[in-house]
Amino acid sequence: MKLKTTNIENRTAARATVLVIGSGGREHALVWKLKQSPSVKEIYCAPGNAGIAELATLVSIKADDVEGLFQFAAKNRIDLTIVGPEVPLVKGIVDRFEKDGMKIFGPSKRAAELEGSKAFAKQFMKKYHIPTADFEIFTKSQSAEAEEFIRRHSFPLVVKADGLAAGKGVVVCQTQTEALNILGEFFGKNIFGDAGSTVVIEEFMQGEEASVFVLTDGTDYQLLQPAQDHKQILDDDRGKNTGGMGAYAPAPVVTKTVMKRVEEEIVRPVLHGMREEGRTYKGCLYVGLMIASGIPRVVEFNCRFGDPEAQAVLPLIDGDLFEIFSACAVGSFGSIKVKHHDASAVCIVVASRGYPDEYEKGKIIHGLESVRAEDGIVVFHAATKKENKSFVTSGGRVLGVTAIGYRNDLEGTINSAYSAVKRITFDGAYYRSDIGKKGLRHLH
Ligand code: AMP
Ligand code: GLY
Repeated sequence: MKLKTTNIENRTAARATVLVIGSGGREHALVWKLKQSPSVKEIYCAPGNAGIAELATLVSIKADDVEGLFQFAAKNRIDLTIVGPEVPLVKGIVDRFEKDGMKIFGPSKRAAELEGSKAFAKQFMKKYHIPTADFEIFTKSQSAEAEEFIRRHSFPLVVKADGLAAGKGVVVCQTQTEALNILGEFFGKNIFGDAGSTVVIEEFMQGEEASVFVLTDGTDYQLLQPAQDHKQILDDDRGKNTGGMGAYAPAPVVTKTVMKRVEEEIVRPVLHGMREEGRTYKGCLYVGLMIASGIPRVVEFNCRFGDPEAQAVLPLIDGDLFEIFSACAVGSFGSIKVKHHDASAVCIVVASRGYPDEYEKGKIIHGLESVRAEDGIVVFHAATKKENKSFVTSGGRVLGVTAIGYRNDLEGTINSAYSAVKRITFDGAYYRSDIGKKGLRHLH
């Protein structure tokens, strides 16, 4: 399938300067899509990576340096800032920018608590009758009660640190001993500091996971194509949890009926509830779902796009991402209709051997020139650097190789992604070989 890439010839009058915050595959996908927008003149990315540098000017300010980013944006007259990761959002970057009249896409600090505090998110869901796992919340001073709760409960049971813990704060416990040990680590050893000084202990939900992204200006909203991530390191969802080893969209487990339920039972009450609470939610809301027998329940909310889901979902949008994000930022999203290509997308993450534990960096990446947008392939860089004109690895998740194909041919899109992945090599390159397989099961 032919990809629309940098269609910059037909640019007209309004030309905006944008700043994208973050440095992973998600941010590369955001920059790639914004680059196609006729209204965008210049893109900065802070801090970015070597792949992003091909499309944007890198700025060496860390993603969590809220004041530094604000000063840069103000000085360089940035028209719109787009925040990739959760940390600056939870720290209040949107409030800081808006205080001085700067346009920014993302939720305020109080709205971002939907991701920043699992205890807040669970209490909020309970109050507004949003379907999720049953739970109890315990603070450090209630550790005896928490232990008692664990002793009385059946297993598996899920123990979660309240605050941000870089994706490591959730443990699915199979036994009482395991759950008591985890509680000891959170409360006794303080492994997550303040983030773990309150815990949520919740019922384990059976089912299949999927994620739906909601774009909203706080009142009007639209749903993007549903995606499915692959969180474990090994095929068939075995082994350790990672940041995500691959994603595809649309995910057929989210049927039209499921999507309707998600919209009516989750999205609308969340946006309504957040307005009621004085925490109007703007930006992208990531709804992490568990689906069993066609019934969706919330596993988690994130206050940003998923990574690697964004690398599969953003290419499916048929429209001007700058216009869409600007409308969300200023409250005019009701005047825009987000359209989608009749396509499917599959992103395979290529990681460094050893990830999510120790791994080596600095390996030369070969074969990048062998994949071409004309063949429906885009390689999003997650952690690369440039050394002597070569791209080298600089992190655990290195690349997200994305294929875009026909919507009714997920299998063809998967094959096309794998044929591209096989042409790209570096010492210790590792990827899962079953990305999208669950989707095919729903179709056959
Ligand atoms: P979270 O950060 O809350 O999304 O949790 C990380 C992962 O843990 C999820 O993607 C699920 O795979 C798993 N998980 C979290 N909560 C539950 C639950 N209540 N039941 C089943 N699995 C869960
Ligand atoms: N891929 C899961 C996440 O972004 O949280």
